[in-house]
Amino acid sequence: MGAEKAMFLTVEGAEGVGKSTHIETIKNFLDSRDIPHILTREPGGTPVAERIRELLLAVDEDETLCELSELLLVFAARAQHLERVVKPALAQGKWVICDRFTDATYAYQGGGRGLDVAIIASLESLVQGELKPDLTIILDLDPRIGIQRASERGELDRFEREQIEFFDKVRQRYLDIAAADPQRCAVIDAGNDLATVSSELRKILRSRVARHV
Ligand code: TMP
Repeated sequence: MGAEKAMFLTVEGAEGVGKSTHIETIKNFLDSRDIPHILTREPGGTPVAERIRELLLAVDEDETLCELSELLLVFAARAQHLERVVKPALAQGKWVICDRFTDATYAYQGGGRGLDVAIIASLESLVQGELKPDLTIILDLDPRIGIQRASERGELDRFEREQIEFFDKVRQRYLDIAAADPQRCAVIDAGNDLATVSSELRKILRSRVARHV
């Protein structure tokens, strides 16, 4: 297959945008080209990072997680995930498809919670160095529809319980990130039907990934 460099692909979007379904489309695309890859997620992706994920998502009535703790936990999980899973996979020539990454931190902790972007950027640089995704798919959807879909899946986690204004800010921050970095980011309207979204996604993959294989 002759890949020059294993690619790091991330998939982003607010709640209920259909990330899992569309990650499956990416997986099928890579399988059909015999491109070795792994699927992983954030927060999580290693046993320790999954435990941090539980802390982040748990609804604890006794003690609320403060915003800075939340931010640091996200990056603690990321440091673990990068060292144990992402970097080794890329070094072995395996592509990495990651369900959320640092754009989620800019969108949720930066946009949603209103934390200072400079603090996030300094943690990003500490934890990632130069490592950034090669391609980021941002699935865009009106949060009113997304939250409705998420609530149909079952009990809502700590983030999913946020007010709609929080998700409006998350969505806007994702769109701002995409506008600032169009080389890396592709936005897909996730409000369309499944076939349209999948076809759009495959089109993006053919045009952006073809350069690498
Ligand atoms: P998921 O349910 O889509 O897997 O994501 C878990 C939640 O974690 C989701 O509500 C977004 C949140 N999150 C952050 O707030 N910051 C981050 O950096 C990441 C990766 C996720």
